[in-house]
Amino acid sequence: MLDDPTNLIAALDRGESLSARWYTDPAITERELTHIFRKSWNYVGPLSELAQPGDYVTGTAGGVPVVVVRNERGLAGFVNVCRHRRHEVMKGRGKATMMQCGYHAWTYDLAGDLKRVPRSVAEPSLRLEDFPLLPIRAEALGPFVFVNLDKEAPSAKDCYGPVLDIIAGSGVALDTLELHSREDWRAPANWKAMLENYLECYHCAVAHPGFSAAIDVRPDNYTLAAHGWFSSQSGSVRPAALEGKARIKLYDVSGAVTQSQYHFLWPNLTININPGFPNLSVDVWIPDGPNATKGSSEQFFGPGVSEDFARDLVAFNEQVAREDDALTDSVQRGLLGGLPEHGRFLTSSEPLVIHFQKMIVNAMSGRSPL
Ligand SMILES: [Fe+2]
Repeated sequence: MLDDPTNLIAALDRGESLSARWYTDPAITERELTHIFRKSWNYVGPLSELAQPGDYVTGTAGGVPVVVVRNERGLAGFVNVCRHRRHEVMKGRGKATMMQCGYHAWTYDLAGDLKRVPRSVAEPSLRLEDFPLLPIRAEALGPFVFVNLDKEAPSAKDCYGPVLDIIAGSGVALDTLELHSREDWRAPANWKAMLENYLECYHCAVAHPGFSAAIDVRPDNYTLAAHGWFSSQSGSVRPAALEGKARIKLYDVSGAVTQSQYHFLWPNLTININPGFPNLSVDVWIPDGPNATKGSSEQFFGPGVSEDFARDLVAFNEQVAREDDALTDSVQRGLLGGLPEHGRFLTSSEPLVIHFQKMIVNAMSGRSPL
């Protein structure tokens, strides 16, 4: 299915992109689910939503419905699928004393053990202890909770731990953030095309007038750094924006945070911090077939940040996302035609895109992404 990975990696290092069918072929997406998403840490939600026993959060990992619950022993992750007819057990987020399937009321305790099956007295050969929810790894890293279907994968802390220190350097105190709002979204572009757009700011001056008025996106001042399992971009607030002299109307960028940070955590989580009062947003990017991505955004703010600031910054982020969506929707239309078969990246301005594509090729070849 794949070309020789060694040749592909060498081509990527020269700036030659993956061929268009990597972004349009359903067989590639299928392989990404098994080779990437079922072997990696998948973000499911903030730790603050799992603070009390019985709190639970659902999500997916490589197409598999998952649930993380807090029980008396800590966080526990499970495949969120009933052992009976494989109906999803828990929905959304919330608080529960038991995990009960809404189809035939098979009921599991918070440790995942099957405790009650209606009419099971008439079924003496059914041993409830043989049918617990399937356990998976769940791990909190700072305020973020992840699951992994791969028992062998390195811990989330080993993969991403240092990103917490970089975030702390921005002036945002992770342990004080409060979840402000959350929304699900869908876009008609391949998940990799969307993340490759996230991973460079070469397009910022062209396509993001507001963003570029707030943040110094000039290549000498905007930094790009690959750290292995995660990568980071950073830029400073523009003095003109701070003085209210930007050519475009902006949100109030004054505040303790003077640096923006944009982190990508392999394979599909991004974390954004913008100048102003303490803020952080996360996005998850999940393939929905080859030609669409479904995701979710969560916006967090520090304690005491005004609702006006929160509303303005959310609007700012939405404007940038709209501009990015127009770009990547167009890229997907270009990719769907298959011509030209390859693109050409700038190795100096787009090294994080190349780093990402190399991880993709390695993982898809059955090797470690790094
Ligand atoms: Fe962008």
